[in-house]
Amino acid sequence: MASAIWLLLLVVFVQVSIIAAVTDGGDSSALKSLAADWKSAPPGWGSADPCGDGWVGIGCTGSRVTSIILPNMNLEGDLSGDISALSELQQLDLSYNKGLTGPLPASIGNLKKLTNLILVGCGFNGPIPGTIGSLELLRFLSLNSNAFTGRIPPTVGNLSNLYWLDMADNQLEGPIPVSDGSTPGLDMLLNAGHFHFGKNKLSGTIPSQLFNSKMTLIHVLFESNQLTGPLPSTLGLVKTLEVVRFDNNLLSGRLPSNLNNLTSLHDLFLSNNEFTGPLPDLTGMSSLNTLYLSNNSFASSDVPSWFPTLPSLTTLMMENTQVQGEVPAEFFKLPHLQTVVLKHNGLNGTLDIEPGFSTQLKLIDLQSNSISELNDTAGTYNFDLILAGNPVCEETGTTEPYCTVPQPNSSPLYSTPSKNCLPASCSSGQVSSPTCRCAHPYTGTFQFRGLLFSNLGNSSSYVALEQSLMQFFQSHQIPVDSVSLSNPRMDPFEYLLLNLRVFPYGEDSFNRTAVSMIAFVFSNQTYKPPKNFFGPYVFQGDLYENFSDDPKKSKKTSIAIIIGAAAGGSVLFLLLVLAGIYAYRQKKRAEMATNKSNPFANWDPKKSSGSIPQLKGARAFSFEELKKYTNNFSDANDIGSGGYGKVYRGTLPTGELIAIKRAQQGSMQGGLEFKTEIELLSRVHHKNVVSLLGFCFDRGEQMLIYEYVPNGSLSDSLSGKSGIRLDWTRRLKIALGAARGLQYLHELANPPIIHRDIKSTNILLDDRLNAKVADFGLSKPMGDSEKGHVTTQVKGTMGYLDPEYYMTQQLTEKSDVYSFGVLLLEIITARRPIERGKYIVREIRVAMDKTKSLYNLQEMLDSTIGFAAPPKGLEKFVDLAMSCVEESAVDRPTMGEVVKEIETIMQMAGMNPNAESASSSATYEEATKGVPLHPYSDESFAYSGGFPTSKVEPQ
Ligand SMILES: *[C@@H]1O[C@H](CO)[C@@H](O)[C@H](O)[C@H]1NC(C)=O
Ligand SMILES: *[C@@H]1O[C@H](CO)[C@@H](O)[C@H](O)[C@H]1NC(C)=O
Ligand SMILES: *[C@@H]1O[C@H](CO)[C@@H](O)[C@H](O)[C@H]1NC(C)=O
Ligand SMILES: *[C@@H]1O[C@H](CO)[C@@H](O)[C@H](O)[C@H]1NC(C)=O
Repeated sequence: MASAIWLLLLVVFVQVSIIAAVTDGGDSSALKSLAADWKSAPPGWGSADPCGDGWVGIGCTGSRVTSIILPNMNLEGDLSGDISALSELQQLDLSYNKGLTGPLPASIGNLKKLTNLILVGCGFNGPIPGTIGSLELLRFLSLNSNAFTGRIPPTVGNLSNLYWLDMADNQLEGPIPVSDGSTPGLDMLLNAGHFHFGKNKLSGTIPSQLFNSKMTLIHVLFESNQLTGPLPSTLGLVKTLEVVRFDNNLLSGRLPSNLNNLTSLHDLFLSNNEFTGPLPDLTGMSSLNTLYLSNNSFASSDVPSWFPTLPSLTTLMMENTQVQGEVPAEFFKLPHLQTVVLKHNGLNGTLDIEPGFSTQLKLIDLQSNSISELNDTAGTYNFDLILAGNPVCEETGTTEPYCTVPQPNSSPLYSTPSKNCLPASCSSGQVSSPTCRCAHPYTGTFQFRGLLFSNLGNSSSYVALEQSLMQFFQSHQIPVDSVSLSNPRMDPFEYLLLNLRVFPYGEDSFNRTAVSMIAFVFSNQTYKPPKNFFGPYVFQGDLYENFSDDPKKSKKTSIAIIIGAAAGGSVLFLLLVLAGIYAYRQKKRAEMATNKSNPFANWDPKKSSGSIPQLKGARAFSFEELKKYTNNFSDANDIGSGGYGKVYRGTLPTGELIAIKRAQQGSMQGGLEFKTEIELLSRVHHKNVVSLLGFCFDRGEQMLIYEYVPNGSLSDSLSGKSGIRLDWTRRLKIALGAARGLQYLHELANPPIIHRDIKSTNILLDDRLNAKVADFGLSKPMGDSEKGHVTTQVKGTMGYLDPEYYMTQQLTEKSDVYSFGVLLLEIITARRPIERGKYIVREIRVAMDKTKSLYNLQEMLDSTIGFAAPPKGLEKFVDLAMSCVEESAVDRPTMGEVVKEIETIMQMAGMNPNAESASSSATYEEATKGVPLHPYSDESFAYSGGFPTSKVEPQ
């Protein structure tokens, strides 16, 4: 009886809907068919009338569906061929739905009104259907970053209105199609501004018909394919070209001599091919900004005369190109020059850095040439200069900074700072915005395929990008509070990657409409970056999981099932499903609430780990967060291991790098050490002690999160593993830093701390080679009552262990002093304390002869120190080390005395112990002023009618 009434109500409801529907019946059923193939159609898509009910992402004109804009909607499934029934459709954008897979249906060719077909960053595969060539009105075709295979369909050549053609980053193969009378080809696309075909598997030669003087191409991108043969001289006929990329192919032969007819060209990438013959003559290329010619087989030639004549040049990459002779000093005076890489060439004579060199210079890398002299009359070049592998560096013992190859800088080069506020501490999943509010940002990655700068540390380009993004969002009424950019980096394809976060205005997350509006401005290229810094880009949106208007958290429940169930009249089933979702959601909520309110919820005091840790300043991280920051604890992020487990590198959403020490699962022995380390470290703050940022107690894991110290351990540097060359002054500086860190622990920390495990693997080096004391797993705080000593079970590392402590079990600060003495001996010998059964303290004691120079220890000292000029103060350093390893603790100096003595030795060596050494990290310079503008933004293809809404136009 009851179910009969239900059924009756349902019938009435369905009838009412049908009467009220505005949407064309064919369109309505086509959309429902699309939804039925998707596991996760947007909520609200169950209702009867797409136009009338305002389905998310559907735009209508009258009763007809004219746009489907659903980027970043977490769609999963296939694209149904029924889409072809939407005969009035003008725009289709399904970008950034990685779960959309399967082939593109051939019937898509029936959408004759389509102008924009945008499927960026989905999972579509199989060949691109040739029927795409029937979309006569198409202006914008973006199929990039999918898994398409097969050939470029020649029928694309029929799209005479096409302006934007992007098939990059797929698995396309075979030749580039050109017309031959009977079949069409890309050469027919006279209105096209953009050929983007990079990162595919295209092969064969580049047909010379591909280019002609009637074309209006701006960007021709064929990088990272398998193209062979020569670069056709017809390329020189396309005068409109601004960016040309053919790098990373197998191209050969001579470069066409008319390249320099391309006077609008600003980015030319031809590196990593097999080009032969002379270097091209680029005289007159007044717009050329970025030139990549590295790693080709050019004939040897003198430094080209056009070097100093390219007024816009910022970046020159000509590694291994057989260039010889002297580089004219005039070249470095080009006003916008930032980066010059001429490694592995035959440059010789004197390198002249005259006053007046470009103030924007960041790097001149001339490794492995034959330069015999540096004339730096200005005396103060302020960029990175590398001359290692040149005769000028071959005299033994040269300590000039330009003779070492600096370590790649691993600290982030930029991250949007907070705007005059302190970052909020947010619950898991939320992030503090630049305005210090917690929210779920929309995130994604910009990939720039051309740039007008190469100094990635220069913040002005990012600041300009942030401002232009905010202006854009505001003028398009998209509810954005702020944006942040982080972690600029070059990928192996010479693309600049940059992380973007967009924070919601007034809410803590975006609704679906807002997310698709944001994603669309990137997928459709409606947003254009500041033209004086950035060239062509693509954007990849990340999955957004926190839509504010999602009624259900459980994404697995398919709308299709609900529709099916309801249509079948099984109302009871529907109610059960809804009840189940509700219960599940409540449970999830309850779990989340517990975890949020108490980060120590999983701290079990019974498991021999003592009471809940008392912390100052360190924050709790969830397991999920750390998993995300370390890319699921990937091997690539594994940076070390020990008895306790592994150390991973992670990247916070701000771009800041962190080091995560992850205890081995179930390592109970580590439990106490873990807690000690958190409690102690959260209280110590000193620049020579590694700082603790947080910890994780989640899911039976024990992890400690530290600041990331980029240059590894002292042990890595002494053994040569890290590639950092430690001369005498650097060693003194490191010894002083370590001593100051330890002095702080002994004398200034409250309570004082005995480290108990001082050794070279526990001294870390930052990017300025500041030493930082790390690893407090064995450390002991000294309470007032136990001032003097503590009796404890002996722990430490063999070779560094104080023999007196070992025998008496009485632990004092002097045990650390002993270990520090061993460390000092390690610093001068680069030998481990016990090597092949020999104990370093004993060996030095026996070999030492104070009447001889260097105490007769030359044999044992590390040759890298360099003895051309005797290292000043070395004897005193040995004296200090030996006093630290006196048998009896009372005869050893305190760490305070050790610090003073090292400072004295540094002064003897002509160093200022209180000087900050020059930073090797990026400096933030003034904005690039007066760089020629990037004409890239003057494009008018983009959809200009504003964001399509779901509103029904009055009839
Ligand atoms: C293009 O370059 C070629 C060879 O360098 C030259 O002969 C020709 O005059 C140039 N054409 C134009 C239109 O500048
Ligand atoms: C530099 O190399 C060129 C070409 O090999 C040679 O002619 C010239 O004499 C060399 N100059 C010096 C200063 O060695
Ligand atoms: C170094 O360069 C200056 C010009 O800046 C020049 O006057 C001087 O003669 C040069 N010295 C040598 C040794 O080439
Ligand atoms: C979604 O967000 C947009 C922009 O803030 C707003 O205009 C719209 O009303 C919201 N829609 C819903 C269903 O909340």
